[in-house]
Amino acid sequence: LPAVPDGQLVLALDQGTSSSRAMLFDRTGTIVASAQREFAQHYPQPGWVEHDVLAIWQGQLDVAREVLRSSGVPWQRISALGITNQRETTVLWDRATGQPLAPAIVWQDRRTADFCSALQAEGHGPLFQARTGLVIDAYFSGTKLRWLLDHIPDARTRALRGELAFGTIDSWLVWQLTGGQRHVTDVSNASRTLLCNIHTLQWDPELLALLDIPPGLLPEIVPSSGTVAHTMPDLFGGPIPIAGIAGDQQAATFGQACLTPGMAKNTYGTGCFVLMHTGTAPVPSRNRLLSTVAWQVDGQAAYALEGSVFMGGATLQWLRDELRIIDSAAQAETLARQCTDTGGMVLVPAFAGLGAPYWDAYARGTLIGMTRGTGRPQIARAALEAIALQSVDVLDAMQLDASIPLAELRVDGGAARSDLLMQMQADLLGTPVVRPRVTETTALGAAYLAGLATGYWHDTAELTAQWHAERRFEPAMSADQRAAVRARWHRAVDRARDWARE
Ligand code: G3P
Repeated sequence: LPAVPDGQLVLALDQGTSSSRAMLFDRTGTIVASAQREFAQHYPQPGWVEHDVLAIWQGQLDVAREVLRSSGVPWQRISALGITNQRETTVLWDRATGQPLAPAIVWQDRRTADFCSALQAEGHGPLFQARTGLVIDAYFSGTKLRWLLDHIPDARTRALRGELAFGTIDSWLVWQLTGGQRHVTDVSNASRTLLCNIHTLQWDPELLALLDIPPGLLPEIVPSSGTVAHTMPDLFGGPIPIAGIAGDQQAATFGQACLTPGMAKNTYGTGCFVLMHTGTAPVPSRNRLLSTVAWQVDGQAAYALEGSVFMGGATLQWLRDELRIIDSAAQAETLARQCTDTGGMVLVPAFAGLGAPYWDAYARGTLIGMTRGTGRPQIARAALEAIALQSVDVLDAMQLDASIPLAELRVDGGAARSDLLMQMQADLLGTPVVRPRVTETTALGAAYLAGLATGYWHDTAELTAQWHAERRFEPAMSADQRAAVRARWHRAVDRARDWARE
């Protein structure tokens, strides 16, 4: 690629579930500088997960400033800013003061499970699936927003007076970055709310009425690539165009250059999210996956089938923070290599229920099949296997839905750095797994979406040409062994299901 004569760069803000990051990319898609900060998770009751949204904003601003300061790059050299974020997490704030009314309800939070069961029992499932591509589950923003309106004194009255704003984390960040001048969300984030019609890419009045959500709360839906605003000049020294917004999983799919139908990626972050590009029209799922908007670029929407697994890398954090059998997530691999198998023991990390394809908000974590010889290595190995096996479940469903055999699975995210996990994934899937050179594909995708809008990159062919494999993992397990491990896993999943239902 020709050198960029003026040294321009693209800044990506990646506001994930566990950390806020900022990265600078050059025109080859190489990371020039990065900064990261983990932030606190709050678990006020079993099944509840909250974030402090002011802390999220402050942390995100700090890492953005830090990456500019540490690299010595002034704002004038930033061609575009892209935002990518943990999806579904729900924020409600006061338009006049910019103050949140409550902590954010995080995507993993299960507090609206009973309400979702009631909606399901009333027969609304097919309507929601047809309009939004989603299943009725506590995962999505709609019922979380409804909960806030029902539980914060005066919230509904104030919402009807137009005093409040709802948003996912992208909306919240744009609001803050623009000093409250823009209240927007992109199509990919909107498609995760249970409120957006994925065919028209607009809020759906019937669904809003069903959930009793005042339309005045909602942000304007904008494309994923396009300049929506400039940052307040005092934040970074001068105005930077905010030109790309996408939910983190869609951004990772873009960053992995899964730009043609049938291409799929799995991101091993807090959760694991498999997305397969399905083209310019949504493919309805018959196997309890989600049809979701991938992005909208140059006016054209692209769609994906998604399998969402709630506990991916978070399973390793549980080993680190709660069981304390490792000091860092990366150590899980070292520990797991001390044994050759789990001795028949299985961990089902349903700490926040089970996502696709089970959608069981009442499932809970289960460790089963222990013997007197079970120790730390077996538990670490079972945790890695569980991450791979949950991904196998969604990929099986995906291949049935898409009726295209998967040629290879592109992988990224923190836990994708584990060679052992990636080999397990290829073995248990029976499909090659390919890890790219740049595994920070979420931030890269946001940078690409923003840079395409400002002409920093010209077209998607340029992005495809920049994708390079670092390592390919070929399946090496016999079909019989694969079937046996999967059967044992499904028996364990059955035991974990429905545990927390009163
Ligand atoms: O849907 C939730 C997802 O966006 C969270 O992603 O990377 O924070 O696990 P991550």
